[in-house]
Amino acid sequence: MCGIVGYIGNKNCVPIILEGLKRLEYRGYDSAGIATINSVSTDVVKCEGKVSALEAMLNLNKLDAPLGIGHTRWATHGAPNEINAHPHFNENKDLFMIHNGIIENYQVLKTKLKKQGYNFASETDTEVLVLLIDSFMKKNLSLFDSVRYALNEVEGAYGIAVISKKEPDKIIAARKGSPLVIGIGENENFISSDVSALIQHTKRVVYLDDNEICELTKDNFFVKNISDESIKKEIENVTLELDELSKGGYPHFMLKEIMEQPDSITNAMRGRLLFKEGSTKLGGLQGYEDRLANSKRIIISACGTSWHAALVGEYMIEQFAQIPVEVEYASEFRYRSPIIYSDDTILFISQSGETADTLAAMKEAKRKGALVLGICNVVGSSIARESEAGVYIHAGPEIGVASTKAFTSQLMVLAQITLLIARKKSMSFVDGKKVLTELEALPGKIKKILEMNSEIEKIAEHFVDAKNFLYLGRGYNFPVALEGALKLKEISYIHAEGYPAAEMKHGPIALIDENMPAVFIAPHDSIYDKVISNIQEVRARKGRIIAIATENDYDIDGLVDYCIKIPHTLEILMPILTVIPLQLLAYHIAVKKGLNVDQPRNLAKSVTVE
Ligand code: AGP
Repeated sequence: MCGIVGYIGNKNCVPIILEGLKRLEYRGYDSAGIATINSVSTDVVKCEGKVSALEAMLNLNKLDAPLGIGHTRWATHGAPNEINAHPHFNENKDLFMIHNGIIENYQVLKTKLKKQGYNFASETDTEVLVLLIDSFMKKNLSLFDSVRYALNEVEGAYGIAVISKKEPDKIIAARKGSPLVIGIGENENFISSDVSALIQHTKRVVYLDDNEICELTKDNFFVKNISDESIKKEIENVTLELDELSKGGYPHFMLKEIMEQPDSITNAMRGRLLFKEGSTKLGGLQGYEDRLANSKRIIISACGTSWHAALVGEYMIEQFAQIPVEVEYASEFRYRSPIIYSDDTILFISQSGETADTLAAMKEAKRKGALVLGICNVVGSSIARESEAGVYIHAGPEIGVASTKAFTSQLMVLAQITLLIARKKSMSFVDGKKVLTELEALPGKIKKILEMNSEIEKIAEHFVDAKNFLYLGRGYNFPVALEGALKLKEISYIHAEGYPAAEMKHGPIALIDENMPAVFIAPHDSIYDKVISNIQEVRARKGRIIAIATENDYDIDGLVDYCIKIPHTLEILMPILTVIPLQLLAYHIAVKKGLNVDQPRNLAKSVTVE
């Protein structure tokens, strides 16, 4: 996902846009650029690399303008370099555009424009769109209408901001599939792909919806749809606080967010536990509880870490709510023409609420009449707004690209949804209360695990040079094995594979030797003895073993090389605890490798392209 920031007002837009781009850099950061328009000139500065490289260039250029747009890029078309960086512009350098998304028919449009005499400097789809807009401007259409006409020819996803020297008192913004939010200030207005770039200036925002185009001046705005019909938009107030976006004294956002988990999971259940009923109250599902509990089938669809959470949710719901659950990769679900019945309930899990594959899968499910629910972290995100109903996980902004606190909060919400359904079915009041009591005890248990941070750091020391890792778990902890492997892969670039522990004998055990570290998730649960057998199989082949075990388990110590002992909890909630040592292990290995933990190579925080 790319970062978009625009400003129009009485101040110099350059420092405002730069500050905003820095807040968005976690979303995509392989190149950056800014374009400005003032009464004297138009300027564009762009570069490969991070916003800091752009800032260095701007310090030399000393730009000062009341109107500007800026962009941080996560490359989809064309290598990350200066030419392909945004903003893109026309030959006269009097029309500039930044874009988040993919123009799917850009080749057809490019051919048409070439026939009109246009030349192209970059390999991007974005340049095609800005020159298409230019072609309508050349017909003396207004900037707004030129954008609207051009977008009517576009297929694909976009979040764009456009400025022109011919109309230097406005920004035109439009969205379809990629988020855009307007910030309403005093004699100044803003546009961004994320509220976090706006809140130090204003908390009054307007979320654009798909196929909407906005004309923004410094003291007003209007919105129309792609068919030129006026749309009334509400100004909303954002509750996000600025200090939630800083590192709070930690060296990395990822460590801050790992350490925040006692608080973030508290927020995931705040006001939702009903001890008198042994159940939960989820405001976002009000009116849908019975339909949810009577679902013939529940499908859970997501990507990445959220897909791992979905797998845990499958085990929870099937065990305690007796409803068949299927878990689907959203990217597969949207294209394999799934069979969906109107009495299906489909849960879509997404931290960012902007993942393109998940959003598209959700729209496909809605078309087929299923009940579509969202489990999101970002309030007002596209998936949250597209859902018929849903539950926010309230984890607070997750800036680190590797998802940590969002995962445990997703599990908290899935456990509460399971309890809500189970108590409408066969689960007793007493058992319901047991789950609530354990949910309430989790923040304290997580704190105990986090106190082992330096012990886990010492273990990480021994694995900095590892080339491969196996993560093994069973039952509820099989998805945790997948999640632990993903954490290590995405921030340390060490290849790691998560596997059901029993499956290891059906092939992967051939990988085991003294150079293959194996992480076993082996808490005292209903299948503990089976996992111990798997540990012995690895030990017999000289594998180096790290185990996540339950405190007071003294039998396991003699079987493994390193053991991290964590508090006990109910089997259904164990993943919320067992994942945390794995988050810290991956974090410390990556830091010791000197890698950029918050912004790993090739990744972006939210993948808003296919
Ligand atoms: C998680 O660490 C990854 N960064 C990635 O797999 C992420 O979980 C995935 O892209 C889904 O994102 P979402 O939850 O925002 O939809």
